[in-house]
Amino acid sequence: MTATVEFEAVDVNSEIGLMSVPRHVAIIMDGNGRWAQSRGLPRTEGHRRGVKTLREAVKHAQKRGISYLTLFSFSSENWSRPQQEVSFLMALLRRFVHDDLKELIKANVRVRVIGSKENLDKSLLTLLNDAELKTAHCTGLVLVIAFNYGARDEYVRAVRKLAARVEAGELKAADIGEDDVSACLDTSDLPDPDLIVRTGGEQRLSNFLLWQAAYAEFYFAPTPWPEFDSGAFDDALLAFSNRDRRYGGLSSDATGT
Ligand code: IPE
Ligand code: IPE
Ligand code: MG
Repeated sequence: MTATVEFEAVDVNSEIGLMSVPRHVAIIMDGNGRWAQSRGLPRTEGHRRGVKTLREAVKHAQKRGISYLTLFSFSSENWSRPQQEVSFLMALLRRFVHDDLKELIKANVRVRVIGSKENLDKSLLTLLNDAELKTAHCTGLVLVIAFNYGARDEYVRAVRKLAARVEAGELKAADIGEDDVSACLDTSDLPDPDLIVRTGGEQRLSNFLLWQAAYAEFYFAPTPWPEFDSGAFDDALLAFSNRDRRYGGLSSDATGT
């Protein structure tokens, strides 16, 4: 399976010099609060504007022919924020799923949710499960929402699943391989991200997709998420298309000397 899609025939991409697009783009949507605060607005206004950017990003990913778009919407560590901000973010997520689901179905977008579902509010859990069920038939872009997600938490849950299989005598510890670990992660049915974008100026992963990012390309944009428009998205895609991915081997044009 190739990680990129060749797009010689698609003018919309070659027009901007984009000859290949990543199959899976994952975005750390960061900088909402600072964007708002620098304008004298409450942090929540940044989150509200961030939802607009999110909608545009989904459309743009479809336009460019990206197959999987993962968006980090709330981390397992974000619960430590002030209660009022957490409540606002929960309400925004509910509203997005509730208001946009019909539109997503119309656009043939399949929704997947990754992250821990343990101890989540029942009605929120129902809403998220519903979004997955109602879009299960869609065959276009896969929109992966990372909610209550932390890579270390995901590992711990995966290790527990594997340990339970060993305890049950289904699996020998010595036989556990990379595929067994991958199969126990929330992303078991998803390809690894080819490109990880972080907006907002920070250059860290903040516990996002640590296992899956093994050979991802990274792109750090200074632009805060509320201002990350389709032009900024294209800049990230163009940077990706100029990268030489070697996976520990050599470039295809290496001479071997
Ligand atoms: C990202 O923006 C959104 C979430 C983490 C939910 P932030 O809220 O982290 O904004 P900054 O980084 O403080 O500016
Ligand atoms: C990462 O951003 C989480 C999301 C974008 C949802 P944070 O703002 O939580 O990350 P740190 O605290 O700057 O590392
Ligand atoms: Mg942040």
